[in-house]
Amino acid sequence: TCSAGDQQTVVIGLAADSGCGKSTFMRRLTSVFGGAAKPPRGGNPDSNTLISDTTTVICLDDYHSLDRTGRKEKGVTALDPRANDFDLMYEQVKALKDGIAVEKPIYNHVTGLLDPPELIKPPKILVIEGLHPMYDSRVRDLLDFSIYLDISNEVKFAWKIQRDMAERGHSLESIKASIEARKPDFDAYIDPQKQFADAVIEVLPTRLIPNDYEGKILRVRLIMREGIEHFNPVYLFDEGSTISWIPCGRKLTCSYPGIRLSCGPETYFGHEVTVLEMDGQFDKLDELIYVESHLSNISTKFYGEITQQILEHSEFPGSNNGTGLFQTIIGLKIRDIYHQIIASKQLSQTQSAKA
Ligand code: ADP
Ligand code: G6P
Repeated sequence: TCSAGDQQTVVIGLAADSGCGKSTFMRRLTSVFGGAAKPPRGGNPDSNTLISDTTTVICLDDYHSLDRTGRKEKGVTALDPRANDFDLMYEQVKALKDGIAVEKPIYNHVTGLLDPPELIKPPKILVIEGLHPMYDSRVRDLLDFSIYLDISNEVKFAWKIQRDMAERGHSLESIKASIEARKPDFDAYIDPQKQFADAVIEVLPTRLIPNDYEGKILRVRLIMREGIEHFNPVYLFDEGSTISWIPCGRKLTCSYPGIRLSCGPETYFGHEVTVLEMDGQFDKLDELIYVESHLSNISTKFYGEITQQILEHSEFPGSNNGTGLFQTIIGLKIRDIYHQIIASKQLSQTQSAKA
């Protein structure tokens, strides 16, 4: 069989609840590919799509089948599969993967209505981000790599307060209430997707300070599945060993409560995984190079590329802790996976041409 375009679109799924750092992650990812992604030019100003030379990021909210009023009338949340059109999501992601452009709907977050569709052309890398990229098995099977951002309730609460209270003027009570209201559907439809992810970034409160409820210092775990084609998990010092490392000392400045890294094999939903964990934060961002130089399988193109990426975007949230570090690592991994898929496709084409 032959696809319509001669380029291959690699499809990446990024799942997380809203307000859990998807757009920050996307900015780090597109930066690894060498260019910020921007909204489509001349289109609907409320488009949720981001486009760069290599990458198109589409937001799965665009597949809401019920608009805000429809959801209210039927009493379903945006997290409920009944508010989303998985048939269309599957058809369109499949078409793009096959090299065919689609007219994708737009969910307007300002009005809560479905706007007229926009044309999406097949990119080199298609990222589908949102609440349900791994919910429907047909869509899931189209993904070349999948990521789940697993933000613990404590941290989600701290981030929501920061954004919705400081920037949007919501009250503490209303933020608590909205998290509580989403919880049943979140547990039923969003959270279970993490068992299907190739990589999970778990964000938890620190263990370096007893009873820390502030959610400022984070313990972040990068859970990487073994046995995934084109994906070799990152490790610390020695592959397969269980390592615990406090890098603070002569080469790394740490103020209280310091930094602790660990790495080793674990099981996650019955799968073999490697988990890299970082608790605490960096005082001086350029000293990240010391930690980077002890990590293996990071898919960098040159020595210090992770540190360079972090320094370039030091203003993004999480640059001084494991969230920024692990998001950057996954960005590099996705670049590597993309190049491997393209290389293996070209190889099979030359082989079939010879046969
Ligand atoms: P989403 O796209 O999933 O809605 P954003 O990337 O816009 O999420 O992040 C939402 C808010 O959460 C940000 O404004 C910021 O306050 C907070 N946030 C996100 N990522 C981090 C992080 N790694 N560290 C601290 N705060 C973060
Ligand atoms: C989008 C987000 C959801 C959010 C919804 C708002 O779909 O992805 O996380 O809940 O918008 O829904 P509302 O019913 O409040 O308009």
